Amino acid sequence: MKRVAIIGGSGLERLLAGQQHSPISTPFGDVSYIKRIEAPFPLFFLPRHGPQHAAPPHAVNYRANIWAIAALDVSRIIAVSAVGSMDPEIPPGSFVIPDNAIDFTRRRTATFFENEAAHVDMTQPFCPEVRSALINACRENQVRVYDNGVYVCTEGPRFETAAEIQFYRRIGGTVVGMTLFPELPLAREKGICYASLCVVTNFAAGISSRITVEEVFTRMRKLTATIRSILLRAATLIPEQRSCTCGAALQRVADFI
Ligand code: HPA
Repeated sequence: MKRVAIIGGSGLERLLAGQQHSPISTPFGDVSYIKRIEAPFPLFFLPRHGPQHAAPPHAVNYRANIWAIAALDVSRIIAVSAVGSMDPEIPPGSFVIPDNAIDFTRRRTATFFENEAAHVDMTQPFCPEVRSALINACRENQVRVYDNGVYVCTEGPRFETAAEIQFYRRIGGTVVGMTLFPELPLAREKGICYASLCVVTNFAAGISSRITVEEVFTRMRKLTATIRSILLRAATLIPEQRSCTCGAALQRVADFI
């Protein structure tokens, strides 16, 4: 049976109710905030920043989170993030299912392979099957959804300057957030399919004259019921068997020498 995990972002700490899973120990610390959701298949929920949003984006224990999800034998991840829109045509309240990404983080450990040469293919970083499930679930829920786009990930925790956003737009960015990296490559190192449901909470710096944390959280809170419905539907729509190539993204150099 398929096994799916949902990773919730800012404002979604209590997105899904379920039974608390016993703590999972990992080489990076215990993960004690995973819930098992009632579904006809094993479905787990993990709030990315911890239950009280204690960890800011640059300090999230990404490796512990992904390690714990892999330990649960999960092979598909749906990740939810609040993002700013860099496209004036994509307003707050819309959803974007990105098809590619650019990493501008600077000081996060982005691999499980610190002492071994191993590389993940990131040409098509998101799983096409999980993306399709998300796009269809958004359409069924009749929300405004964009079925592609480029997620630019910044280091944070500060918001961007207007000039940075102009630059990110020029190089092809659609939305900007702080949490996709290294979560996505770590999932690929574990052979887990990953796609992102981006919730546009605000226009990015310079498109909007000011960004407030309040607007980000208020927007997320307002959309919580819709997000919940999209996620549960998307998890159901993910095919039982994988026909993607995500499971083979990791290549260890030792296998070739
Ligand atoms: N920038 C970076 N991260 C974000 C934003 C933003 O404008 N909105 C929500 N998360």
